[in-house]
Amino acid sequence: MADLGKQYLKLKEEISLETDSVFSSAQFIKGEKVEELEKELASYLGVKHVITCGNGTDALQLALMALNLTIGDEVICPSFSFISSAEAVALLGYRPVFVDVSYDDFNITMENIKDAITVKTKAIIPVHLFGQAADMEKIMNLANQYNLFVIEDNAQSFGADFTFSQKN
Ligand SMILES: Cc1ncc(COP(=O)(O)O)c(C=O)c1O
Repeated sequence: MADLGKQYLKLKEEISLETDSVFSSAQFIKGEKVEELEKELASYLGVKHVITCGNGTDALQLALMALNLTIGDEVICPSFSFISSAEAVALLGYRPVFVDVSYDDFNITMENIKDAITVKTKAIIPVHLFGQAADMEKIMNLANQYNLFVIEDNAQSFGADFTFSQKN
């Protein structure tokens, strides 16, 4: 789908300079470069805080842990995604409830989420797949209506944009 090798070759020199500097400093955790990266990412995204993690699965697990849910609580996930979106839910003893995605952009839809909500539903994990943002305006409205947490899985769409009220 994406030629990562080609992308790497284009940025090889820049990447090598940065990785060399990290390896030479031997500061892999909470070092100067990590702080620099977090600041740059926050500025790119226009948010106050970015906390980097070892990988995307850890990020999902940590975000879920922060919700303090109860074993058996249900978390709505798309049926079409990388395994981690649901794996992090199951690892913590919560129940992933799969809903279908749209044929248009392969993302979870408000209509399908609505049908899956039960009294045990506590959160929704929309995944922005293949660089395309899910319809967050509708999803957030629904989440607010049912008092549900929302954790966005952005592993595949960092920097993707969703302009509210432009769809439909
Ligand atoms: C949609 C999605 N979520 C989560 C992950 C997990 O990321 P990681 O492999 O860094 O744990 C991936 C990885 O490909 C992904 O595509």
